[in-house]
Amino acid sequence: MLTRNRCLVIQMLTAMRVWSKHHPRKFHWHLGPIAVVPEVQERGIGSQLLEYFCRHVDQAGQAAYLETDRPENVPLYERFRFSVIEEAPVLGVRNWFMWRTQGQDVPQPNC
Ligand SMILES: CC(C)(COP(=O)(O)OP(=O)(O)OC[C@H]1O[C@@H](n2cnc3c(N)ncnc32)[C@H](O)[C@@H]1OP(=O)(O)O)[C@@H](O)C(=O)NCCC(=O)NCCS
Repeated sequence: MLTRNRCLVIQMLTAMRVWSKHHPRKFHWHLGPIAVVPEVQERGIGSQLLEYFCRHVDQAGQAAYLETDRPENVPLYERFRFSVIEEAPVLGVRNWFMWRTQGQDVPQPNC
């Protein structure tokens, strides 16, 4: 059990190290993982959560950023004006790093 927990901690720290390497330094709001329980997915709840988040980001006049490892979610986030700025494997799983700007400047990560 201890070995398994240690392994999970190492994996989590490794993932966090990769995510932080890609994390834009420019000020932004970070959309953390969101989830809708499977029984009620595809009924518009996720879109409502994103609308709420984006409305507040727009009111603040600021940019936003997220990571996802699910290809099926990329078009959903693109509908809310997030754009893929980078892709990289995290623990062997492809991840998409997505930025949402008020203006036209899409920053390079770590710039
Ligand atoms: C991503 C998630 C939060 C979306 O919530 P939701 O309530 O299902 O979203 P919506 O009902 O607003 O659907 C938005 C669109 O995404 C599509 N979509 C949602 N889940 C999908 C899936 N698993 N596969 C393909 N398309 C999906 C819907 O078809 C819909 O598109 P449409 O309007 O063109 O039909 C939800 O699917 C979820 O919890 N997934 C598992 C956890 C997860 O991936 N979280 C995000 C981590 S980055």
